[in-house]
Amino acid sequence: MPRHILSVDQFDRRFLDDLFADAASLSPRTRYDRLKGRILTNLFYEASSRTSGSFHAAMTRMGGTVIPVQNVQYSSVAKGEDLQDTIRTFGTYSDVIVLRHPEVGAAAAAAEVSEVPVINAGDGIGEHPTQALLDLFTIRRELGRIDNLTITLVGDLKHGRTVHSLVSLLQTHGTNIAFRFVAPDSLRIPYEHRVLPLDYLETDDLDEVISESDVVYMTRAQKERFERDYDHSYGITAGHMARAKPTMVLMHPLPRNGEIPKELDRDPRAAYFRQMENGLRIRMALLSHVLGWRGGFW
Ligand code: NCD
Repeated sequence: MPRHILSVDQFDRRFLDDLFADAASLSPRTRYDRLKGRILTNLFYEASSRTSGSFHAAMTRMGGTVIPVQNVQYSSVAKGEDLQDTIRTFGTYSDVIVLRHPEVGAAAAAAEVSEVPVINAGDGIGEHPTQALLDLFTIRRELGRIDNLTITLVGDLKHGRTVHSLVSLLQTHGTNIAFRFVAPDSLRIPYEHRVLPLDYLETDDLDEVISESDVVYMTRAQKERFERDYDHSYGITAGHMARAKPTMVLMHPLPRNGEIPKELDRDPRAAYFRQMENGLRIRMALLSHVLGWRGGFW
């Protein structure tokens, strides 16, 4: 049975501890030969820089190679080929498929027919499990723990799949986590992601919760998923930073659309570029795992 990565629900604590230990031991600038001779297909039906780029770099750093299919309009998808036939095709040519697709459940549908591991790199507004792994890894590295924390998520909590995956992962693996959901009324987090019992508060005003937050996780408005125009002006300012804890960690999955002004990049609490590098480490370790590299814990 291939080791698909489809949802954060599949991760247990042991897996996370082992993955994080391996990721921490890897250097993103070193060339390893763990995955020598193995091939990854990067199959992206939606725009991407960090996820596709870091999977490509991770596979290459581990000694493998990549078939990049980032412009599906130039593949047989443009001739009307369906997802499952495309998956069978690239499963024949490669050992693992990283898939981003606009429909919820696309990665699961791909896994049904795939003989090689499928990694969900984002399925519409559904999930983005590898982003949640790197987000949790970042919180643990920055703060040294994933318990007794107030986590504030800001922005488009309705469509943001990174938010949906991170909230689930933290609910399962964090202890004593309080959530603060900050969103305009039209972009509130869907009910199924606020599973009770949960210490949470919803507001549209970051001022209300900034000073108690250990993590502030900003997101952009997912405009490509809007059926209609929403009012989506929100952001964090130098004024908010002045009222935040000195140990607060400011995160963003990126890309940003002005929610974090560039003047904040120099603040040591701005962790989004470190978060991005952590993504490379996590994906190096994760590819080793799904491809059954035998030198590790798996
Ligand atoms: C996110 C995504 O694609 O969901 N990007 C990413 O993978 N880092 C967030 C976003 O696009 O806003």
